[in-house]
Amino acid sequence: MEPLSTSFALYAAGAAATAASLVKLKSRLDLSRAKHRSLTGHARMSRLFTALVPFYEYDEGRFFRADDAPADIGEKRRAGFFRLAALYRERYPETIRQTVEVSGAISDLQFTDAYRVPFQFSRFVRTHLKTGTFVQSSSGVTVTDLDGNAFYDLTGSYGVNLFGYDFYKECMARGAERVRDLGPVLGSYHPAIAENVKRLRAISGLDEVSFHMSGTEAVMQAVRLAQFHTRRRRIVRFCGAYHGWWDDVQPGVGNPVPARDTLTLTDMSERTLRVLRSRRDIACVLVNPLQALHPNTGAPSDTSLVDSGRSAHFDKAAYGAWLRELRAVCSERGIVLIFDEIFVGFRLAPGGAQEYFGVRADLVTYGKTLGGGYPVGAVCGRREFMKRYRDDRPADICFARGTFNSHPYVMAAMHEFLTRLDTAEIRALYVDLDATWNARTARLNARLRDEDLPVRIANLSSIWTISYTMPSRYNWMLQYYLRAEGLALSWIGTGRLIFSLNYTDADFDAVVERFVAAAKAMQHDGWWAGPAVTNKTIRRAILKEILAERFLKRA
Ligand SMILES: Cc1ncc(COP(=O)(O)O)c(C=O)c1O
Repeated sequence: MEPLSTSFALYAAGAAATAASLVKLKSRLDLSRAKHRSLTGHARMSRLFTALVPFYEYDEGRFFRADDAPADIGEKRRAGFFRLAALYRERYPETIRQTVEVSGAISDLQFTDAYRVPFQFSRFVRTHLKTGTFVQSSSGVTVTDLDGNAFYDLTGSYGVNLFGYDFYKECMARGAERVRDLGPVLGSYHPAIAENVKRLRAISGLDEVSFHMSGTEAVMQAVRLAQFHTRRRRIVRFCGAYHGWWDDVQPGVGNPVPARDTLTLTDMSERTLRVLRSRRDIACVLVNPLQALHPNTGAPSDTSLVDSGRSAHFDKAAYGAWLRELRAVCSERGIVLIFDEIFVGFRLAPGGAQEYFGVRADLVTYGKTLGGGYPVGAVCGRREFMKRYRDDRPADICFARGTFNSHPYVMAAMHEFLTRLDTAEIRALYVDLDATWNARTARLNARLRDEDLPVRIANLSSIWTISYTMPSRYNWMLQYYLRAEGLALSWIGTGRLIFSLNYTDADFDAVVERFVAAAKAMQHDGWWAGPAVTNKTIRRAILKEILAERFLKRA
C-alpha cells in the first residue's frame, strides 16, 4: 500500500506542477499577445533599439536631397530654406539673440531645440534656421515675441490655455488679491481650498481630493494609492500614452532604468481585456483619454516625423465603448480604474472625460488648466481608495507630501477658475463644442484638399494632429513655414496643435488662411516634389543609413 500511495502523491504533485506551469505559460502568452506589435508596445526592446541607433547627420548636399531628389529640386529647397532663414533673422532678431544667449545654460532649451526635427537634419536647422523661444505678452488668442511680432497661439501652453490667456491673467490677479494677506504660508490652508474641494467633488462625482504640485505627482499618487489598497504591484498603461515623466509610467525610451511593475498593453484590444481578466497582480489601469485621437501611438512629435506614416482619427463611440468594457473588467477584477484627465479634463466637457464619454473612474487626476494659470495636480477619488493609512495597522501608510501642495496663490487662482467655470459666459463655450471644432477642422481640410496640398488635420474637439497624405522625408519643415506665417507652435511642431476655446470664427479664419499659405509656400519650395517614394521605402532607406553608420563607417 505504502509505495502505491507514494507514487500517487508524486503523480498528483507532478500533475499539479505541470498544471501550474501551463497556467503560468498561458498567462505569459496572453500577456505577450496583448502587447502592441510596434516598438512603442515593447518598452525593453525600444530602449535596446534606441541605444543602438548611432548619431549621423546629413551634409548640406544630402540635407536637401535625402530622398534622392533631382538636383533642381534640391536647389529649389535650398533657396526656400535660406529665404526662410533670412526672414527669421530679419523678423525675429532680438527674440533669437536672447534665445541663443541663454540656450547653452538651459538644459531644457537645448533638449527641445535639438529634438524639433529628425536628428539627421537637426544641426543644420539649428545652425541656419534658429527659432526664438521668448515671448513678452499675450492677448486674446495671440502671443507677442520680443520683436513685437504677434502669433496666433496654437501651443495652448501644453493644454493649460483652455479659455484664453486673459482669462488666466484674471484668475491669477483676482486670486492673488484674495490671498495677499496670507502670502506664502504653507501647511495651513486658506479658506479658498474648501470651495475648491466642494466643486471638484461635484465635477468628478468622487468623494475626496488631494492636491499636488504637478500632473506627474498627481499620477504618482493615484498609482501609489491603487497599489496600497489593492496590495498588488502591477500598473497597466496603454501603448503610447503619456502620464508624466516619472519612472513607472515611462517604461520605455527616455527613462534610463527599466520600470519593473509596468505592463504596457494594447489600447482598445480584446487581448488586453483577457489579461485584465486573468491576472491577479494588477493594481490599476491608467487611461489617458487623449489617446482616443491616436490609440497605441505616442505623442506625435515632429522629431519622429521621418515619413508620412503619422495618422490619427477620433471615433467617440468606439472609444466610449472601450472605456465601458474597461470599466466592467476593472469592477469585476477589483482593479482600480484611473482616468488621467490632466490634459483633457475640462477641455472636452465641464465634467471632463468622465462626462464626455459617460464612464466613471475610481480615481481621476486633473492638472494643467485647473490651476487657473499656476502649476498644479489633483487626485479625486472614491473614499476607499484615497485613504493613506489602515485603521487596523497604524504603521502601514501610503505616504504623500509636497512642500508647495495647496499653496494659497494656486488655491485662490483655482478657486477663480472653478467659479468662472459655472458662469453663463464660460458655459456658452461648451455649447456645440465638438460640432464647432469638427466643422472648423473640416473647413480647413476642404481648403487643403481644394488646393491640392498633402496635409490633413484630425481632431479631438479642440486638439489637432497634422498628418500628411504624400510620403515625404520633409514634412517636419512645415512647422517653420507655419511660424513664418505667424502661427505659434510648441516644440513638438505639427504633431499637436491646441486651440483655446475663445477662438472666434474670425480668428479661426485667419489661422486657416495662414495655414494654407504656409503649406503652399512649402509646396512651392519643392519639399513635396521628390521622387515617388512610399513610407516603407523611406523607412528602409533610413534603416540602411543606420546600419551603414553602425557597422561600416565605425568598423
Ligand atoms: C495626461 C497627462 N498626464 C500627466 C502629465 C504630467 O503633468 P505635468 O507636466 O504637470 O507634470 C501630462 C502632461 O502633459 C499629461 O498630459
